[in-house]
Amino acid sequence: MANELLCAPQQDQTRKTLPVSDSAVAEKPLVNPKLATVEKVLSVEHYTDRLFRFRTTRPQSFRFRSGEFVMIGLMQENGKPLLRAYSVASPAWDEELEFYSIKVPDGPLTSRLQGIQPGDDILLGKKPTGTLVLDALTPGKRLYMFSTGTGFAPFASLVRDPETYEKFEEVIVTHTCRDVDELRYSQELVENLINDPLIGEMAQGKIRLYTSCTREDYPRMGRITNLIESGKLFEDLGVPPLDPATDRGMICGSMEMIQDTAALLEKAGLTEGSNNAPSEFVIEKAFAG
Ligand SMILES: Cc1cc2nc3c(=O)[nH]c(=O)nc-3n(C[C@H](O)[C@H](O)[C@H](O)COP(=O)(O)OP(=O)(O)OC[C@H]3O[C@@H](n4cnc5c(N)ncnc54)[C@H](O)[C@@H]3O)c2cc1C
Ligand SMILES: NC(=O)c1ccc[n+]([C@@H]2O[C@H](COP(=O)([O-])OP(=O)(O)OC[C@H]3O[C@@H](n4cnc5c(N)ncnc54)[C@H](OP(=O)(O)O)[C@@H]3O)[C@@H](O)[C@H]2O)c1
Repeated sequence: MANELLCAPQQDQTRKTLPVSDSAVAEKPLVNPKLATVEKVLSVEHYTDRLFRFRTTRPQSFRFRSGEFVMIGLMQENGKPLLRAYSVASPAWDEELEFYSIKVPDGPLTSRLQGIQPGDDILLGKKPTGTLVLDALTPGKRLYMFSTGTGFAPFASLVRDPETYEKFEEVIVTHTCRDVDELRYSQELVENLINDPLIGEMAQGKIRLYTSCTREDYPRMGRITNLIESGKLFEDLGVPPLDPATDRGMICGSMEMIQDTAALLEKAGLTEGSNNAPSEFVIEKAFAG
């Protein structure tokens, strides 16, 4: 079991990708068990040369709310963990964990993470947290999830959670990327959702994925902010403009995308909420920098 690795001296000769020094083998535990557990990679799927997803084991003790993020990472050659924030892309009920990741060519973590294979070890932090949770929104009729790039990850979790459909009559997920093939993960996920034995029936007729591209020819072009401002989003979906009486929002993307989208929601009269003070929309960075 993954958890048996905790505190074990580093004798495992199968960790070829993560060699450790002799002193670490002799004295140091793998990872502080108060902060992280060591899980196993179960599967890996590459979408483009910039994007991939992977699934890992989930310890029974790991509890999170759909939409939250957690620190994950790899052990470094110096025996220290290298961790980064990642949205959990799988829903809270799933026995496994899924993550959707960027590959930054010279990124300290993802330059190595992109090479993981089934059976490899991965570090999983113990403290999931975040604001993209249903609890941080006041009741409403229509839930919008606005995402760009890997900002779709927390919504991959929420669209697979039955509670989303219990709380909202309509669920609209927008995903905008530079290139067409960067939309594949969200498109396949939402398509497969309808046939899912657990939530297919709940999601059918309620969920809609609204995609657009900005730098490659695609049937719908443009930033989500432009599509909101011009009213095209609402026209295309056949829904009224944003209204705080009925609509709730979640935003995940770059800092600029969040700021610009939040400004439009505020202009429409929606106010930002948090775990402590639920309101009409919530935000989270998809990455820092
Ligand atoms: C709350 C939160 C949740 C996150 N969830 C995810 C997630 O689910 N999936 C994911 O791939 N990343 C996510 N990230 C980003 C992640 O923490 C790392 O930055 C990313 O894995 C790259 O790590 P790195 O060490 O290779 O490079 P870093 O040194 O961390 O980043 C180098 C540069 O790459 C760019 N970059 C980093 N991450 C991204 C990204 N996701 N999309 C586009 N450009 C990026 C930025 O310009 C950054 O300055 C999240 C970040 C935050 C703060
Ligand atoms: N995607 C690539 O092909 C690519 C290749 C090499 C390097 N990178 C680097 O990787 C990093 C992240 O790239 P990314 O494509 O994942 O994320 P990104 O730059 O945040 O772009 C994702 C999507 O969000 C849109 N967007 C950006 N700012 C916005 C705003 N203020 N309001 C609304 N929409 C906005 C983009 O439109 P626009 O296209 O109009 O900006 C794009 O469609 C960047 O630093 C980039 O330099 C990306």
